[in-house]
Amino acid sequence: MEVYKDPSQPIEERVEDLLKRMTLDEKIGQMRQYSSFTKEIKDLVRKGLVGSLLNVTGIDKVNEVQKAAIEGSRLGIPLLLGLDVIHGYRTIFPIPLALASTWDPSVVRRAARIAAKEASSEGITWTFAPMVDIARDPRWGRIAEGAGEDPYLGSIMAWAAVRGFQGDNLSDPDAILACAKHYIAYGGAEGGRDYNTVDISDRTLREVYLPPFRAAVLAGVGTIMSAFNDLNGVPASANEYTLRKILREELGFKGFVVSDWNAIGELINHGIAGDVYGAAKEAVEAGVDMDMQGDVYRRALRKLVEDGAISEKLIDDAVRRILEVKFKLGLFENPYANPERARKVVKCKEHLDFALEAARKSIVLLKNEGVLPLRKDLKTIAVIGPLANDRTAPLGSWYCLGDPKDVVTVLEGIRSKVPPQTKVLYAKGCDVEGDSKEGFEEAISIAKQSDVAILVVGERGDMSGEAASRAYLDLPGVQEDLVKAVYETGVPVVVVLMNGRPLSVKWIAEHVPAIIEAWFLGIQMGHAVADVLFGDYNPGGKLPVTFPRTVGHVPIYYNHKNTGRPPDPKNKYTSKYIDEDYRPLFPFGHGLSYTTFSYTGLEVKPKEVEPGDIVLISFTLTNTGEREGDEVAQLYIRKPVASVTRPVKELKGFIRVTLKPGEKRKVTFKLPTEQLAFYNSEMKLVIEAGAYHVMIGSSSQDIRLTSEFRISKTKEISLRTLKFTEAIIK
Ligand code: GLC
Repeated sequence: MEVYKDPSQPIEERVEDLLKRMTLDEKIGQMRQYSSFTKEIKDLVRKGLVGSLLNVTGIDKVNEVQKAAIEGSRLGIPLLLGLDVIHGYRTIFPIPLALASTWDPSVVRRAARIAAKEASSEGITWTFAPMVDIARDPRWGRIAEGAGEDPYLGSIMAWAAVRGFQGDNLSDPDAILACAKHYIAYGGAEGGRDYNTVDISDRTLREVYLPPFRAAVLAGVGTIMSAFNDLNGVPASANEYTLRKILREELGFKGFVVSDWNAIGELINHGIAGDVYGAAKEAVEAGVDMDMQGDVYRRALRKLVEDGAISEKLIDDAVRRILEVKFKLGLFENPYANPERARKVVKCKEHLDFALEAARKSIVLLKNEGVLPLRKDLKTIAVIGPLANDRTAPLGSWYCLGDPKDVVTVLEGIRSKVPPQTKVLYAKGCDVEGDSKEGFEEAISIAKQSDVAILVVGERGDMSGEAASRAYLDLPGVQEDLVKAVYETGVPVVVVLMNGRPLSVKWIAEHVPAIIEAWFLGIQMGHAVADVLFGDYNPGGKLPVTFPRTVGHVPIYYNHKNTGRPPDPKNKYTSKYIDEDYRPLFPFGHGLSYTTFSYTGLEVKPKEVEPGDIVLISFTLTNTGEREGDEVAQLYIRKPVASVTRPVKELKGFIRVTLKPGEKRKVTFKLPTEQLAFYNSEMKLVIEAGAYHVMIGSSSQDIRLTSEFRISKTKEISLRTLKFTEAIIK
């Protein structure tokens, strides 16, 4: 038996044995990925000239194409079968931005685990997730796909997602290969316009956009996807500095890099290549190992090698990384999906139950002035709005093989929650977009007959995600007018937002007494929203992104700098606006509960530490209300004086705690001083001496306890030695 076929041999030896048997065309074949399964592609697969396919789904098709690769080709190298399993495969969970609102990485991890089990059971071995792009601009539709604006929260969620998808061992049958994307700084697009230019400092790149990728690498992510955008003049898919210097040398990433969809071919549009030869040369030299759907590597790499323009060693290195991942996945031993297993796994009760739990935990109570939770014995309830009974929107963007038929709409959830004698009236009122107000009269009429009016408004699922940037952040169409019209009836109003990005819902925030941020919660949306509305679940989510009052505020984020003239309403000559309050509508970390919590007894020990030490920050959290509830306690740090300007606060710890009425819990954050490292004026990564302010809060603005400690001296460190706080990941 050839060494590469022998599972008892070390993977390194199997890779080398296989590599030396491969022709140049077969090697280049491994670097090619296509999104289809035509006869032409199948012929290429049979010749061993394709490394991966994406968007081929269904066990029969998957097994058929895998069989063509293994039994049809000379060396029988199995394919990687990829799919965007972003927030569920068939059991669709809340969108990633909603999952981030749980501030509970164990939820993110379990949702990814379930998605992996379902996808792998139908032959998918690679997901293009987690998307770990930090997003500070809600005009950018892809803010929906990530964990929001904060590098620390984003890092914890990235780590959790990778571990969820890949499990404890990549060769386990229910593991799928994860792919941290889009490397790098794709979320920094100017104007929030998708695919647009990114031009940021190296410090911002490293302190804001890089941390979640570092966390994914530490979690063992098998692949990274290079992004579409140009970064500081060099496209991310041709950027040797980010792909080799940072990703491989500094972070120690060992997996392989796949380009985003034709991102290599788009180097021609970027203007750094004049043809496919130039594009292929730029990308392969920068370190992009696989060409997704661009067909550039096929057209150019052989000629580049034959012309001596690139060395075959570059090809060998890329193919080595791809083969290593395929061996680690156990693809050579277990390439086929088992229909029996799929039937038991896909959308099983355990998965559907967890989808409800995740949806509940994702909900954020933005405002509540005595209206929620609703009594269940109300006589009549009006449910109004274009999204109240929408079956597709709750799936959000990138809903994989999710089926709208599986969705419980908000209206259905409410109907199933209340007793038969409660009348539930429904009126759509208007569309999500468009200016017709014809439906207002009916909406007003049912509101007048009701004890409460629940308005479900927001965006369609396809108004966020890829290629879905918005120039406005208001409710689309005439939805706000609908809310105003119902509000004018005098009936108590509850607004349920269903959206994929922060919205500048200023009027609603100022007038409506109860507002729930429900995002797109997946197939169990209706039950989760109804559980919160009627108090069967006490909401405990927190915002992972800042809500601006207006799009004119953007970019707006909590971890901003102090400036030389911090905003002062009493002083004209300070940093603010003359026509709008400069403060966010709802701040990062904000989220209310049906109970209340107190924070007492903050202790910080030791008060003076050396670089490399751990600071223990503890306090007591008490549920001071009448109902059980979750609180996400947040730790923020500030270095008020430093060698460079630093943010006014940075999240460095959080934990979601469930407490019964009156229950107390002592919480201790173990803060490694490495977590406080930043790049100084010479761009050296340092743990810097000086005082550090400690803030413990219920949001980035609702600070309840403060203290401080000192670091005695400055120490330079490297990314490789930086510790990663896995402490709170269960
Ligand atoms: C898309 C997206 C990327 C996705 C890929 C495959 O263009 O940018 O996130 O994984 O193509 O669908």
